[in-house]
Amino acid sequence: MDALRQKYIDAIANAADESSLEDLRVQAVGKKGEVSLKMRELGKMTPEERKEAGPKLNALKNEINSALAAKKAGLADAALDERLRTEWLDVTLPSRLRGQGSIHPVSQVTEEVTAIFADMGFAVAEGPQIENDWYNFDALNIPPHHPARQEFDTFYMHRDKDDERAPHVLRTHTSPVQIRAMEKTGAPIRVIAPGRVYRSDYDQTHTPMFHQVEGMAIGKDISMANLKWVLEEFCRAFFEVDNVELRFRASHFPFTEPSAEVDLRCSWDNGQLKVGEGDDWMEILGSGMMHPKVLSAGGIDPDKWQGFAFGMGIDRIAMLKYGIPDLRAFFDSDLRWLRHYGFSALDMPTLHGGLSK
Ligand code: DAH
Repeated sequence: MDALRQKYIDAIANAADESSLEDLRVQAVGKKGEVSLKMRELGKMTPEERKEAGPKLNALKNEINSALAAKKAGLADAALDERLRTEWLDVTLPSRLRGQGSIHPVSQVTEEVTAIFADMGFAVAEGPQIENDWYNFDALNIPPHHPARQEFDTFYMHRDKDDERAPHVLRTHTSPVQIRAMEKTGAPIRVIAPGRVYRSDYDQTHTPMFHQVEGMAIGKDISMANLKWVLEEFCRAFFEVDNVELRFRASHFPFTEPSAEVDLRCSWDNGQLKVGEGDDWMEILGSGMMHPKVLSAGGIDPDKWQGFAFGMGIDRIAMLKYGIPDLRAFFDSDLRWLRHYGFSALDMPTLHGGLSK
């Protein structure tokens, strides 16, 4: 029994891994293991012999089992130590650099404009970029043969040859959103509608796709005075100068009566625009009191309600505010341009936190 004991205790101590340990367990105390076979022999012994051999065999079996368990735990610890030694990670290393994008000036300015008008109680409305003839023209008091249709350089969508219906268009301005917003909300209403518009035109200050923001306020006694205050307030906040001066110049749009184009007092200093001082005037938007026919087209009774509307080029005021000379570069996706004129993604423009940094 001592020899048996020595044999297994040594072998267990020397076992290199869990599977050889398992082999040893089967050989020693498995069903047909050496110790188990010895225990079976107890039956053939005399009671005296059994009294002596029984407890010894039991003790041997227990000793082997404990040695197996201890060795197993030791092997697991060693394996863990080995993994900890080889599979380590330096958490103090700096992380890999990730490409970081920037906010496009058009997005930035759209957010700025939205923040300013939201503060004056204007909600944001949207409409489709592929618009039908009615919303883009007729509802805005531009009937089929009106000369204003020619001025827009409209992109027309395809119609089958014998389909007589007026083709859809890529909207030439954001004004159709006036009609959609009136239909949706009724009066009173105060909304702006920023978005993409399209005209077939291309030079330093024109691209076939550009951005406008429409504004509209309808109430019982909305007047030109309200329009003037709202636009002045907007320019003060947007250009971040206290002494803005606007000039309302009589004009004509089919959808407003009276109509006015609005110019901003400014000067040019070394190619840099200065707002609020100087002898130059810069046209920034078209506006007026909404035409009764336009209110009717939007389902609003022009005998009960009246309102003002305006339309402004977002890209244009972005160029003015941030001194960007060429509109075409806005849409070239040149990374160098985007890095230079782009804004940090974490600086959301707000009235209290600052519009631009
Ligand atoms: N829709 C006009 C354009 O694209 C701009 C405009 C002028 C909008 C006068 C208006 C307005 O709402 O009242 O040229």
